Amino acid sequence: MRKTDMKLRFITTTAVLLMTAGYIHSAGPVYLDDSLPLETRVKDALSRMTTAEKIAIIHAQSKFSSPGVPRLGIPGIWCTDGPHGIRPDVLWDEWEQAGATNDSCVAFPALTCLAATWNPEMSALYGKSIGEEARYRNKNVLLGPGVNIYRTPLNGRNFEYMGEDPLLAAKMVVPYIKGVQENGVAACVKHYALNNQERDRDHVNVIIDDRTLHEIYLPAFKAAVTEGDIWSIMPGYNKYDGDHACENQTLLLDILKGDWGFDGVAISDWGAVHNTEKVASNGLDMEFGSWTNGLNWGASNAYDDYFLAKPYEKLISEGILPVEGLDDKAARVLRLIMQTEMNRNRPYGSLNSDEHYAAARKIGTEGIVLLKNENNLLPVTPGIKKILVVGENAIKMMTVGGGSSSLKVQRETLPLEGIRGNASGRGIEVAYERGYVGDVTGEYNGVKTGQDLGDSRTATQLIDDAVRAARDADMVIFVGGLNKSANQDSEGSDRLDFSLPYNQDAVIEALADANPNTVVVNLTGNAYAMPWKDKVAAIIQGWYIGSEAGNALADVIFGDANPSGKLPMTFAAALTDYSPHAANDSTMYPGAGGDVIYKEGLDIGYRHTDRLKPSRVNYAFGHGLSYTTFKLGKASAADKVFDGKGAFAIQVPVTNTGDMAGAEVVQAYVHDDKSSVYRPYKELKAFSKVNVKPGETVTVTLELDKSAFAFYDPESKLWTVEPGKFEVLIGNSSDNIATRIPVAVSEKLTWKDSEDI
Ligand code: BGC
Repeated sequence: MRKTDMKLRFITTTAVLLMTAGYIHSAGPVYLDDSLPLETRVKDALSRMTTAEKIAIIHAQSKFSSPGVPRLGIPGIWCTDGPHGIRPDVLWDEWEQAGATNDSCVAFPALTCLAATWNPEMSALYGKSIGEEARYRNKNVLLGPGVNIYRTPLNGRNFEYMGEDPLLAAKMVVPYIKGVQENGVAACVKHYALNNQERDRDHVNVIIDDRTLHEIYLPAFKAAVTEGDIWSIMPGYNKYDGDHACENQTLLLDILKGDWGFDGVAISDWGAVHNTEKVASNGLDMEFGSWTNGLNWGASNAYDDYFLAKPYEKLISEGILPVEGLDDKAARVLRLIMQTEMNRNRPYGSLNSDEHYAAARKIGTEGIVLLKNENNLLPVTPGIKKILVVGENAIKMMTVGGGSSSLKVQRETLPLEGIRGNASGRGIEVAYERGYVGDVTGEYNGVKTGQDLGDSRTATQLIDDAVRAARDADMVIFVGGLNKSANQDSEGSDRLDFSLPYNQDAVIEALADANPNTVVVNLTGNAYAMPWKDKVAAIIQGWYIGSEAGNALADVIFGDANPSGKLPMTFAAALTDYSPHAANDSTMYPGAGGDVIYKEGLDIGYRHTDRLKPSRVNYAFGHGLSYTTFKLGKASAADKVFDGKGAFAIQVPVTNTGDMAGAEVVQAYVHDDKSSVYRPYKELKAFSKVNVKPGETVTVTLELDKSAFAFYDPESKLWTVEPGKFEVLIGNSSDNIATRIPVAVSEKLTWKDSEDI
């Protein structure tokens, strides 16, 4: 027999044997046959792998990738930050950008801005768009979205999250995840859990009661898993109850994989793993970003020394850790690979498309919050002929910096450019003055803005020049706030105080004295002190909007869009009006002796300020104005009694009483008249955003299921509804309740976290 014939015969015989044994179908090996159920394929692939191959796929091989199983033709995983755009590629083993020319992206608005839309449809658009960019760039895991709850306005990373309310964050996170994953890209919700400050984030130990954990800090993660069907999750750096989040049995095994039935991959935050036995046994599946041999910072190419690499393999071979644990992790990773890279039916994605810019602008415009608008100064009216723009943030690129969310954008329209562009079409002259010099740097991991923001004038000269120009203008638009440098809105450090930095308060006050038509536009991811609040005519909260920042801001300022954003966090008057800071108790923030104690329990944000004098809040959670006016009519419900089955539906008529089309967010807060346990005065339990034309009335239906009335009982570990009287307070802001509706709950209801509601 000729050599080639022998070879052919050998292949055919082997194939027949394998087919008979059920290993391969006519379409190829079982694990490659995507007509078969995912679990069958995962099981099959796993059964073919050696221990070394299983070990290899559960940890990194470079900064952002992990290997697949080359012998079986199973590809590896590529991760990317997240959460506002697709991060530029970095060198294999370094954080420095690789200098590629095909990795610039669209920067979408920061997640605070997305949350401020209060519109799950915007979340879906966001997820779809960023998912397409990730897919086009061949990334399998997008490291986002972030849903850590806004506990303190000093947290440097609040801009990457979705505000202070668990229900708002839960409702907004789910469509984002679905949109991303429809592209065959895994979303990775982060940072699970209680990573609510950057200061000491690597080791701070959070001490919190069980009820607060379940009612405030977990619901958005739970929704990501149980409603969003997310494929991966990122345990964070901090500790909870003495153990690092990545090594935390309660968070990972009991709650995430136990109660919520998570079948995806728990991916460590970069460098958040500390101990092989713990991390292997307590539910983490994949390790990334460790500096290496577990001892030294900076050693490179030491991936074999990862806690889940050779050290784990050794403990398995010595019989100290069970091989089943490794099998479970490897199976999860295989599942993710099959859902993403090995999904032949996923779409191709797209990058920097017109649609993505349009999405970024739409979401940004909808998330901008008009906080104040005295005498309807905005939108700019035809009488205005000359506008003076003042402030560093009008000319500063905000997409570079801030930590891992830093981007390399294809383009970014700055606020001054957006305002100039829009104004020129209306024959309005726009002048610019700097006003203050804040932070002139503009580089992150080698991505440079290339901007020269240096200005040698003294603070007094800068103010004098701005004031002189302000006197000569019909309107002044100050664009300031924070930025993406350390101790501002940035990963790795917290803000040092609640005030705006760089003398901005003095600049704003001087401008307001010089010109009554002063508008303040602040770009931040956090609340801040506003000593000038009553002196300026209008205030806009502009967040970080990304590539379309200038256009979105101009759309709102000139009235091409009617603002409809609502604050996703309380803008209190002073830092001490936030409960973690109320008592000036360092054990509550930043922590002492390694622990930070959440003594305030449930009372964060409006749950706390609802018990203070109204003057302690500058702008309440849920607040946001429009260029039109809305009237919320009397709420009605078909029933007065709710037995906990299905949903309690409430109808609220919303009338647009102004003369411009607009959107209003109807918010329903539940108040418990009498309870055996402490309850916040009211809690957001439903909301709906509705578009209404001038003169039109649209009836909104809000649905409350039993969870809207429940508290978590830490003794029984049951969600519990006590029968009795409740009231649903409905308004367009947490401090503007227009209509109330009583509801009597007829039954005592209890259920486990693991039961679907
Ligand atoms: C951040 C994560 C990020 C990761 C990878 C970490 O420092 O906390 O949010 O996804 O780095 O860049």
